[in-house]
Amino acid sequence: MATRARPAPTRIDLAPRPLPALSGGPIDGRRYWCRDFMAREWDAIWTRAWLIGGLASQVARPGDFFTYDLGRENILVIRGEDGRVRAFYNVCPHRGKRLVMAEEGQARRLSCSYHGWRFTSTGDLGFVPCPEDFAGGNPCGKLRLEEVKCEVFAGFVWVNLDPAAPQLADHLGPVGPQLALYRMEQMHRTHWVTLEGDWNWKCVQDNFNESYHLPFVHPQTRFVMEQSYRDCQFDLYAPHGHARMIMPGARPSRALRGHVDTVLEMMRTELVFWGLDPEDFRDDPSAIRAALQVAKRARGAEKGYDFSHFHDCQLTDHVHLTIFPNLSFSLKPDGCIWLRADPHPTDPERCYFDMWYFTWFPEGAQRYYAYSMGQEVDRTVRAPHQRGKVGEFSCGPGIDQDVAIWSEQQKGLRSRGYRGGHLAGQEARVRFFHDTIDRWLEGQRLASAAARPAR
Ligand code: FES
Ligand SMILES: [Fe+2]
Repeated sequence: MATRARPAPTRIDLAPRPLPALSGGPIDGRRYWCRDFMAREWDAIWTRAWLIGGLASQVARPGDFFTYDLGRENILVIRGEDGRVRAFYNVCPHRGKRLVMAEEGQARRLSCSYHGWRFTSTGDLGFVPCPEDFAGGNPCGKLRLEEVKCEVFAGFVWVNLDPAAPQLADHLGPVGPQLALYRMEQMHRTHWVTLEGDWNWKCVQDNFNESYHLPFVHPQTRFVMEQSYRDCQFDLYAPHGHARMIMPGARPSRALRGHVDTVLEMMRTELVFWGLDPEDFRDDPSAIRAALQVAKRARGAEKGYDFSHFHDCQLTDHVHLTIFPNLSFSLKPDGCIWLRADPHPTDPERCYFDMWYFTWFPEGAQRYYAYSMGQEVDRTVRAPHQRGKVGEFSCGPGIDQDVAIWSEQQKGLRSRGYRGGHLAGQEARVRFFHDTIDRWLEGQRLASAAARPAR
């Protein structure tokens, strides 16, 4: 019997996942500062996992390239004259000099500045000075740059240093289709910050794996979203190691008493944009969420949106994906906060934190107000890469509050007095993240965890 191809999903699956078996006990502080642990992570995770190196739009034309720092390595991604995107170690095979020094650019040929070897955009050695002087004959056409696995998906270029790695789709599992439905390849990067932080990379991923901190780190959110874990959905995708949170938005937290003026003021711009009068909700601000969903559904097309592939809750709520090992996506139909923590080359107590904001411009709009960033952005203005230390550049009002935590947390994690933490139930994603690290350190990357009933 002929098998029918399964149709691509048209909407994300909102069904809660059963909670996988999780470990208990302390999460050792040493994993945030121990050099041996850092070396084990390098061997078992960073050189094995699918990682986002950059944007597909950075390599739109043949000869476009960008480079990506990953620990001690630097990866070169280039679209060849044959139209294919490839990734290579950014290393000259002659005597090891870094080949490309620029962060991004356009080149028909890649020339090494040491002895002048030249490579084609497909990675082949095309020219060497004195080709007759090599014992084995002219190396051109025989040597190539060392290739790295590479796939283009959801608007990103993903790389993997492990030649035996599974396909990206297998690594992403159920979160791949969820990501694809947000059509991020049609969004524009309108904010691009890289901070060198004095904390271990896992502080970042831990932080975005829990919302327990919201009332204290982001107190303003109680006016516009539901902070209580009882109203949120947390999903752990075993064995892949990814996680999802769905948090109701466009309404004040149930625990909030009063502050109606603040609630209406914070939501005013969005309500007016969608043809709603904030004063209509003065008696019951909790009704905003449903009303906004109806308004967006009714007026989406006239405003230049296509919401047909979204559930109503995605029009107002906060859908947050953490993808193992180092990525977070806060997804909205009109934009995405994208976060990445990369390891420092040598120091476990430092890392690189990337924050990109993607804006989905409505059909025909050149300028758009990005609510998450609190700023108006322009489709035709390419975001500059802002690189520096913490405090030198803003990651937007919400993420800046997260960044302000980690230096002080790292100091505590380094203390002899830290006994490995004590997690709340709603921090299960943190536990799951560390359990996944442990599995990878043991070489069991896609090993199944036994499911147990949801709590
Ligand atoms: S190291 Fe590149 S040409 Fe010699
Ligand atoms: Fe936060």
